[in-house]
Amino acid sequence: MKKLFAVLLAMVMLVSAASAMAITVGFSQIGQESDWRTANTDNMIAAVEAEGWTMQYDDAQQQQAKQVAALRSFITQGVDYILFTGVVSTGWDEVLKEVNEAEIPLILMDRMPDCIDAIEYAGAFGGDFVEEGRRMAYWTVNYLASVGRGDEEVNVVILEGTTGADAATGRTNGINEVLVNYPNLVVLDSQSGNFTPAEGQAVMESFLKAYDKIDVLLAENDGMAMGAIEAIKAAGLVPSVDIIIVGCDAVKTAYDAIVAGEMNATIECTPLYASAVIPLIKALEAGETFGRDVIHPDEFCYDAEGGIPYTADGEALSIKVDDRVGGWPY
Ligand code: AHR
Repeated sequence: MKKLFAVLLAMVMLVSAASAMAITVGFSQIGQESDWRTANTDNMIAAVEAEGWTMQYDDAQQQQAKQVAALRSFITQGVDYILFTGVVSTGWDEVLKEVNEAEIPLILMDRMPDCIDAIEYAGAFGGDFVEEGRRMAYWTVNYLASVGRGDEEVNVVILEGTTGADAATGRTNGINEVLVNYPNLVVLDSQSGNFTPAEGQAVMESFLKAYDKIDVLLAENDGMAMGAIEAIKAAGLVPSVDIIIVGCDAVKTAYDAIVAGEMNATIECTPLYASAVIPLIKALEAGETFGRDVIHPDEFCYDAEGGIPYTADGEALSIKVDDRVGGWPY
C-alpha cells in the first residue's frame, strides 16, 4: 500500500511539474487600435497566465520600430517562445532572421509577414483576409438582389485598414476581385481609415462631402464602421437605410449596431487564437513539430435576418446575429 502511494505521489508530482513548466512567452502586439485587438490581447494574456506561464507583453502602439525593438529585447531576455503579429507586412526579414538565429520558436498569429517563406516558424494562425474581403462583397451583391436592387447602379465606398497591413490589402483585393464582376456596383472611392473609429469617421466625412450619392459602405473593420455611422448620422442620413453598411470582425459593437438597425452585416474575423496557440506550445514542449501551413479558423457572417449567401459558391448563408453560437463575448 505504501509503495502504491509513493508511486501515485510521484506521478502527481510529474504531472504538476509538466503543467507548471516555467515557460516565458514574448508577445509583440501591434497596438490597441480596435476592439478586435483588445480581445486578442486579453485572450492571449489570460490563456498564458492560466497555464502558470509568464507573458512578456509589448504594445508597439502601431509602430514597426517599436515591434523590432521588442523582438530584439525578447531575444536578449531569452524568452522561450515569441508570439508575433506585424503592423505591416514588409520590413521584418532581418529581425525575424535574428529570432531564427537565436533558436527561439516563432509563432505567427493574425497578420503574416511577407518574408514568411524565407523564415522558420513553429506554427502560424491567421485570418484569410482575401476571403474576408470577398465575403463582404458577396454578401452585399446578394443582399441587394434580395431586396430587389440587384440590377440597380449603386455607388460603393471602401474604408480600408492600415496601409501596408495584409489585413487591409487582402480585404481590399478580395472586395475588388468580386466587384469587378458586378459593373453596376461602382466603387467611387477607397481610402485608409487605419482600422480606427476616429479615422473611419474622418474619412467617411470626406466621402460624404465629395459624393452626392453613396449607397454602400464596405468598412474593413467594425471599428471604422462605428466611426462612419457617426459621420452618416451627422450628415442627416440614416445608416443601414440610406447607406448599406458592411463591416468585418464581428465584435460586440457591430452586434449592437445591427440590432439597433444602424448596420447591415459583419464578416467574422476571430481574435481568439489562444485555443490554437496554447496547445501548439504544449505540443512543441512534447517534441512535436508542425508544417508550414497558415491555419485559418472557421468564420461566418452575421446580419439582422440571416439567410444571405456570402461565399462564391452561394452555399454559406449569413447567420442572424442573435443565433450566433457562443453569443458576442468581445
Ligand atoms: O489584423 C486583424 C485586424 O486588425 C482586425 O480586423 C482589425 O479590427 C484589427 O485592428
